[in-house]
Amino acid sequence: MNELAKEGGGQTRIDDQHKKGKRTARERIEMLLDPESFVELDKFVLSRAEETEKIVRHYGDGVVTGYGTIEGKTIFLFAHDFTVLGGSLGEMFGKKINKVMDLAMKAGVPFIGLNDSGGARIQEGVQSLAAYSEIFFRNTLASGVIPQISAILGPCAGGAVYSPAMTDFVIMVEKTSNMFITGPDVVKAAVGEDVTFEQLGGPQVHATMSGVSHFVASSEENCFEIIRKLLSFLPQNNSVFPPRIENSDSADRTDESLDSIVPPDSNKPYDMKKLVSTILDENDFFEVHSLWAPNIIVGFGRLDGGTVGIVANQPMVLAGALDIDSSNKAARFIRFCDAFNIPIVTFVDVPGYMPGIEQESGGIIRHGSKLLFAYCEATVPKITIVVRKAYGGAYCAMGSKYSKADLNFAWPSAQLAVMGPEGAAKIIYRKELEADHEEATRTRLVNEYAEKYANPFIAAERGIIDGVLRPAESRKEIIRALRTLANKSEQRPVKKHGNIEL
Ligand code: HXC
Repeated sequence: MNELAKEGGGQTRIDDQHKKGKRTARERIEMLLDPESFVELDKFVLSRAEETEKIVRHYGDGVVTGYGTIEGKTIFLFAHDFTVLGGSLGEMFGKKINKVMDLAMKAGVPFIGLNDSGGARIQEGVQSLAAYSEIFFRNTLASGVIPQISAILGPCAGGAVYSPAMTDFVIMVEKTSNMFITGPDVVKAAVGEDVTFEQLGGPQVHATMSGVSHFVASSEENCFEIIRKLLSFLPQNNSVFPPRIENSDSADRTDESLDSIVPPDSNKPYDMKKLVSTILDENDFFEVHSLWAPNIIVGFGRLDGGTVGIVANQPMVLAGALDIDSSNKAARFIRFCDAFNIPIVTFVDVPGYMPGIEQESGGIIRHGSKLLFAYCEATVPKITIVVRKAYGGAYCAMGSKYSKADLNFAWPSAQLAVMGPEGAAKIIYRKELEADHEEATRTRLVNEYAEKYANPFIAAERGIIDGVLRPAESRKEIIRALRTLANKSEQRPVKKHGNIEL
């Protein structure tokens, strides 16, 4: 019976799976977990579908579930077995997943889903839909309590997509994975569009346009490396701190290159990723959502051995302006960090929210305010460094003092203002500029404004920033701040939940 269960849908289907460049559920589990650590549950579960309609039944019912360890840390998981009815989800299949989700919650450990499924099992009708609903309910209960990670290793069709979307991180694999609520045939029939699986829901679509996927892996091996790395930053659950991983990077390390990383011309871009990684332990920045909304950067790193969540504007894309997607991206990341006790370090260089009809009609007001909401709501330690521009509403949004960041620093190149010198001079010196059209006058007035207002000292005079840092010493100062705030406690009014502007 054991051997039969291990075979899933049989050798022919296993061969088909390999031909498609995919591994079987058990092969995947073996690759992901520490050797010999997997304990399988419910291996002999069978579908009850024969009571309603005939299907060939297989032990395990198309999903392998259980627990094991990854680099010594316990996790629970499921792996869809595509060799059994295309990994489609029926009643017992759903019950198996629900059981391990419940156990992961009770044990307070991360939950991982290895997805490869044709969606709701057609032969099991509404039972399949009910089973999905039970999973969605558990995804919701687990959200913010244990980390939930979804690997997409094949098709992820219909109902199968919503559970991953409700988890914290989605990783898709190049060439073999896709996610869609209705496949190409239904799309053709319903709206007359011709589209391939890849165009409809391939990794490029979800990593660059829809934002559903946080990572694109080059292979299944690479996907599992991403999961291992991701887990290394995370606490097991929301009641503990993330692990400290000691390293040899000194907390006092300074880096002179930071003193000149910001170009003197404030309209010139520079690479914020370089700035961020220069400051982090061993220059190791693990970026999340790197291909979506690259005008903002989010990801994990370590400072002093402890996990930090980084949020930073990227002046190399759209001058770092905030738009709909970047607001959504950063807000979700901030809320994850806040739920899991991960301090947030923000680097600001933002000219404002993106103007224009497309953004306004797309709902920049609604989406942009999520970022404000997320920062205001977060009670983990929050440290903000204004590197260059912090203009207008975007200044408020990017972890500003009165959105309740704990410590706010600025570099000497910082400009905290309602808008940039060019725009501001045009408004406040309008009469002078109308009377005198000379370019020299305009330049003089812009410079006058810049000298007066576009520096960190007016904000420092009023305590809106707490100090002006020498860039080279940023790492040292941020670590000092993090140590100081390590046991920060901030209470908020008791409520059922807030109502973020979704
Ligand atoms: C039952 C299914 C199935 C399903 C696939 N199979 N999907 N069986 N229910 N949903 C079976 C196939 O009949 C086949 O069985 C085997 O799995 C492998 O499928 P193939 O089509 O041969 O594989 P492939 O060419 O790789 O294509 C995979 C696929 C395709 C892209 C997933 O099968 C497909 O498009 N399936 C339907 C996807 C879909 O529309 N799902 C939505 C369901 S509705 P044999 O015996 O021939 O090997 C839904 C709503 C839930 O999910 C809403 C909840 C909120």
